[in-house]
Amino acid sequence: MARVLFNGANLLSTQSHFALNVIAVACAVALATIPSLAQAKTINVASPDKHISISLTDDNGRPEYQVKFNDNIVINPSKLGLVFQQLGELGTNFNIKHVTNSSVDQTWQQPWGERENIRDHYNRVVATLSNGKIDFDIEFKAFNDGIGFRYLVPKQTGLANTPKLDITDELTEFAIPDPQHTTAWWIPGRGWNRYEYLYHTTSLDKIDRAQTPMTFRTADGVHLSIHEAALTDYAAMVLNQGRDGILRADLTPWSDGIRVKTQPGFSTPWRTIQIAKDAPGLLNSDLILNLNEPNKLGDVSWVQPGKYVGIWWGMHLNENTWGSGPKHGATTSETKRYMDFAAQYGFDGVLVEGWNEGWDGSWFDNGDVFSFTKAYPNFDINEITQYGHSKNVRLIGHHETSGSVTNYRNQMSDAYDLYQKHGVTQVKTGYVADGGDIKRADENGIVRHEWHDGQFMVNEYLHSVTEAAKRGISINTHEPIKDTGLRRTYPNWIAREGARGQEYNAWGSPPNTPEHTAILPYTRMLAGPMDFTPGIFNLAPEGLDAVNRVKTTLTKQLALYVVLYSPIQMAADLPRNYVQRLDAFQFIQDVPTDWSDSIALAGEIGDYVAFARKQRGAEDWYLGALTDEDSRKLTLKLDFLTQGKRYQAEIYRDGDKADWLTNPYDYVIETKIVTANDAMTLNLAASGGTAIRFKAL
Ligand code: NOJ
Ligand code: CA
Repeated sequence: MARVLFNGANLLSTQSHFALNVIAVACAVALATIPSLAQAKTINVASPDKHISISLTDDNGRPEYQVKFNDNIVINPSKLGLVFQQLGELGTNFNIKHVTNSSVDQTWQQPWGERENIRDHYNRVVATLSNGKIDFDIEFKAFNDGIGFRYLVPKQTGLANTPKLDITDELTEFAIPDPQHTTAWWIPGRGWNRYEYLYHTTSLDKIDRAQTPMTFRTADGVHLSIHEAALTDYAAMVLNQGRDGILRADLTPWSDGIRVKTQPGFSTPWRTIQIAKDAPGLLNSDLILNLNEPNKLGDVSWVQPGKYVGIWWGMHLNENTWGSGPKHGATTSETKRYMDFAAQYGFDGVLVEGWNEGWDGSWFDNGDVFSFTKAYPNFDINEITQYGHSKNVRLIGHHETSGSVTNYRNQMSDAYDLYQKHGVTQVKTGYVADGGDIKRADENGIVRHEWHDGQFMVNEYLHSVTEAAKRGISINTHEPIKDTGLRRTYPNWIAREGARGQEYNAWGSPPNTPEHTAILPYTRMLAGPMDFTPGIFNLAPEGLDAVNRVKTTLTKQLALYVVLYSPIQMAADLPRNYVQRLDAFQFIQDVPTDWSDSIALAGEIGDYVAFARKQRGAEDWYLGALTDEDSRKLTLKLDFLTQGKRYQAEIYRDGDKADWLTNPYDYVIETKIVTANDAMTLNLAASGGTAIRFKAL
């Protein structure tokens, strides 16, 4: 069938799930359709500012792409294509038969986020490739901050008798020039500990299999990060290095070995490459969100950013237990005590873990016995939520599944209904299980073990989010699938873990390194918000010499609230530790979690980072800066402040003798009047940080 793609009507009828995007394109500009380029061998598309250019060729019937930044090759010619059980390779003996170009420049609003208005500005090309029998499309978008591309396999006559398509491999490659002189920051892909690893800093050729976002810097100082956007109904991609520098998209398989189970009329997630001339450039990119579909939930005013405390850190320190017994944390009286604290200091919610039956014994192995509706007798959810209501503090729900997702799925409706009935609007979920050890019962009741990032779980996580949305509940997923920007489409997917968080500092297995939070912004955080749970004030409960302790100064804990973006931030420590240092706690009380603007001011991956963010709906700005194990001086211009306005800078900084190892509690709080014409020099101690509130006068 000679099928013309992307001429509106045809597209709407055959690929309704692309319709929204196309309408947006059509509204912004008139579609410029190039009539069939019979013998086209190379097509090019450049970013609006022309710094990034992509070329696509079909030499020898094999599609390949190449990317340049400022005329230098940053991605060598790299293969494209998909392999299907039923069809073999889509990518061998395929030639470009048709090309469509368009451009978009539009701005959209985030209901909550790092900034209110996001500019979506790109040039796009869609190439239809054909082997004479089957057509498929490769769509490229070139933005000023990087590129995205994806595959689309439309419904077509040639596939009329192939209702099922099983993907056995993806051929996409990212061929990185000069891998020996390119520095990469990466964590292993498909490891037992999912995304919870310390980052490796190596030359790129040392990567074996890496998770995305995988960030690297070329010998010329260009910064790039490979990831994906809008991962739905597909397997996650990890990067598997073949020959040096050749990173292949390696799709996480199902338990039966198939990578993706789909049907004609599907599109893959976007493969993304963020590109910037320096490290802060990566942080100021909105590419991942721009490649996601608009909000599908309608009015989401019920999704509320905020701050919370919780019955949580005590369990990680072994002061409390999740299960029943004398140290049980989740009791009615303890929850009320936390609610009193939350109300006194202006927190919105109290997270309670260990309230439901099933935690006794080794909870890691209790996935099949968890009840998500039956509380332990000493936890009265009715009394608690009524008490919370009277204090304007919400209970934050918790569901640990220990990776037994069928048990959770079977109870999900009742569990979410229960929370809805009690006015709970946010639930933290947990999927603690080793990589590859998610337990599900298939349609015949046979137990299968899946990866956290295979297609089955990609769908399972989203199912929890959409079921929660029906009840006005937001989800904060722990042990999640990596973030690929779906918060744009489902704004109630409010945060997730998906990296080594603060909890490792309690366990000492080993604690996070001083450089960890100077790497996270440039890697994990490019994907989206993280529930890192900052704000530990008792940095070394077992003494400064103990293995398990927090390896930061106290004011670095404050800086994390600005540096590690999340619309929900926990004050993770025990109330008694805050009461002892109410002066520093003031910053945690003041710092907002919703911003009208965010600007990465300075940074180098693994060394340091400085962010300024403007409070949404207000004039105040906040600044967070932190460093790795090296102390350093940073001079920052305050030109992000509004010209002509005066601000009182409330500065929380490391004292002159501060040092994470020996003297982490040495901090100074001071104020200064500043304007946009000033600069500030910050002295960051070893693994130290500075947090500033610029209060508009
Ligand atoms: C792991 C989560 O990251 C942590 O926050 C939680 O306390 C435990 N699982 C128990 O659910
Ligand atoms: Ca975890």
